[in-house]
Amino acid sequence: AEGDAAKGEKVFKKCKACHAVGEGAKNKVGPMLNGIMDAQAGQVEGFKYSDNLLELAEGGLTWDDATMAAYLTKPKDVVPKGKMSFAGLRKDADIVNVIAYLRTFE
Ligand code: HEM
Repeated sequence: AEGDAAKGEKVFKKCKACHAVGEGAKNKVGPMLNGIMDAQAGQVEGFKYSDNLLELAEGGLTWDDATMAAYLTKPKDVVPKGKMSFAGLRKDADIVNVIAYLRTFE
């Protein structure tokens, strides 16, 4: 199903305590997320990632639709010893919509 970026912007409110996107976005508790879709994990300048995320990134972890959906459903399934303390999104529609929103930022 195609995501709806406008709906995804609302879902992103759940991420905003820790992540920024858009012009001038800075790292917060989590890395800024401009250009994150289809990017290799762990590459945001100046952000201190967990060792586990960096290991997986070195092993080739990239944020495509499937890996991002898995991570947002249950972060520990993808990065077991990572430091994203987020319970996860339960609705598939929320996940495809937030991915569509993230894809609007390059
Ligand atoms: C990492 C997305 C919610 C804290 C990440 C990464 C993505 C992401 C894609 C990996 C970035 C990279 O590889 O450069 C999201 C989205 C969220 C969300 C879309 C909402 C649906 C949160 C929340 C928090 C948080 C609420 C804080 C309570 C972090 C931290 C990391 C991270 C600390 C680094 C993880 C590590 O180094 O293991 N997030 N996140 N995130 N996020 Fe989130």
